[in-house]
Amino acid sequence: MKVKTVFFCKECGAQSSSWIGKCPQCGAWNSYVEEVVQREGDSKFNIKKTKSSSKPQPVNQITFSQEERIDTKDIELNRVLGGGLVTGSVVLVGGEPGIGKSTLMLQVALNCKGRKILYVSGEESLQQIKMRADRVEGENEDCFILTETNIQSIFQHAEDLKPQIIVIDSIQTITTDSIDSSPGSISQIRECAGEIQMYAKKEGIAFFLVGHITKDGAIAGPKILEHIVDTVLQFEGNRHYGYRMLRSIKNRFGSTSELGIYEMQSTGLRQVNNPSEILLSQRDEALSGTAIAATIEGTRPILIETQALVANSNYGTGQRTSTGFDLRRLSMLLAVLEKRGGFKLINKDVFLNIAGGIKVDDPAIDLAVLVSIISSSEDLSISSQYCFAAETGLSGELRPVTRIDQRIAEADKLGFEKIFISKYNIKGLDSSRFKIEIIPLSNIEDVLRYIFS
Ligand code: TYD
Ligand code: MG
Repeated sequence: MKVKTVFFCKECGAQSSSWIGKCPQCGAWNSYVEEVVQREGDSKFNIKKTKSSSKPQPVNQITFSQEERIDTKDIELNRVLGGGLVTGSVVLVGGEPGIGKSTLMLQVALNCKGRKILYVSGEESLQQIKMRADRVEGENEDCFILTETNIQSIFQHAEDLKPQIIVIDSIQTITTDSIDSSPGSISQIRECAGEIQMYAKKEGIAFFLVGHITKDGAIAGPKILEHIVDTVLQFEGNRHYGYRMLRSIKNRFGSTSELGIYEMQSTGLRQVNNPSEILLSQRDEALSGTAIAATIEGTRPILIETQALVANSNYGTGQRTSTGFDLRRLSMLLAVLEKRGGFKLINKDVFLNIAGGIKVDDPAIDLAVLVSIISSSEDLSISSQYCFAAETGLSGELRPVTRIDQRIAEADKLGFEKIFISKYNIKGLDSSRFKIEIIPLSNIEDVLRYIFS
C-alpha cells in the first residue's frame, strides 16, 4: 500500500514534500519531521466531492443571536473566558506538567451542577481520577469519567450520553482512525483537533482540551493547534508558590487581557477573587528594597510588592537577575538611573523579584521597580504606606498609565496613605473621591527627592 508522507516544521507547522534543514517560514533549524498523512485508497479526500449543504448568504440577511454561554460556576474561569463558556466552542488549556490543569478541569466538571459533563482522560486511570475527585470540593452526579484515547469512540460515547461539556485530558494522548501516525505526533494532534472542532460546532457541545507545554513554553504540537481552537488559555505559576494564573492568549469570544487567579491548596484550587490579598498576606513593616506597585491585570487592579537587592559585585560588571519582570526592561531602567539619577550601578549585582511568583507586564510597575532599586542600593526604607503607579520613559520622565482611577481606588481601599503617579494622569481625575493623598510628579528625580529626603 502506498503511503503519502509530508514533512512538517515542529515550530510553525509549515509543510514541505522533502526534508529541509532550516525552515523557510520561521527560520528554525532542524525542526522538520516526517508524518504519514494518508494511505492510498483513503476516502478522506473523496468527502470533498460530495455536495456541500452550505451556501453563501448576503451579510444583512444573516440572523444574529447572542451566543449561548454556560456558567461554569467558577468566577475566575468565567471572566477569563469572557463571561462563561460558549456552547460549541473549543477551549485549549495549556500548562507545564504538574501545574494543575487536570485539577482545574476536574473541579469545573464537579462544580458545574445541572450540566452533563464527560471527562475523558487518556493519562490517568479511573481510580486516580476518583482519588483526586475525593480530594477536591464539589459533587456532581452528572459528571461522567471515561478513560479512552480514540476520538471516534469518544464521539460514540458522547452520542449516547449527550453531555453539554466534554473535557479531554490531554489532546496529545488522543488518536484518530483517519491517519496512522503515532499518538502525540503533529499530524495526529492536528487532525484530532480539527475533528473535535467540527464535532463541537455540529453538536453544540463545548470542549476543553488540555495541552502539554514544551520546555520553551509553547503548547506542544504545531502552532496550528492554536489556530484551530477558539480559545487558548495558559495556566501558569511558579511551582514554589501556591498561586496560579490563568491567562487567555487567544479568545474568539472575549478579550485576551483577562487574568484568573487561583491558589493550589491540599483540597484543590481555590479561587482568589480579591487578588490584592497576595500582597497583603506578605506585607510587613517598611524594609529597604521593597516598594508597592498599583498594577492592573486584565480589568482588575492588583497591588504587588517589588523587591530589589543591590549588592557589590565580586566580578567586574554586575549581574542582573529578575523574576516576574522583563530583564531587558530592568536593564533599561538601570540605565535611566545611571544617566538621569547619577547612580553608579555598573559594578553592582541587581536582583529583582516580584512577590508571590507573579509575572507582570503592566508598565505602571516601572516606578516601583526604580524606587525599590534605589531603596536597596542606598539602604533607605520606603514607608509601607506609599504605593506607585507610573511608567518611566528613557529620560526619566513619569508617563501616564491607563485606568488610573481604578488603581487609586484599590490603593485607597487597602488603606495606603500616598500614591505617586505621573502629573499627566491628574487631568480629569476627581481626587476628592479618595481619602488617599495623590502625588503627581513629573520625573524620577522628583520622586526620589520626595521619598528619601
Ligand atoms: P495536576 O492537576 O495533576 O497537574 P497537571 O494536570 O497540570 O499535570 O496537579 C498536580 C499537582 O497539584 C500535584 O503536584 C499535586 C497538587 N495538588 C494539590 O496540591 N492539591 C490538590 O488538591 C490536588 C488535586 C493536587
Ligand atoms: Mg494532568
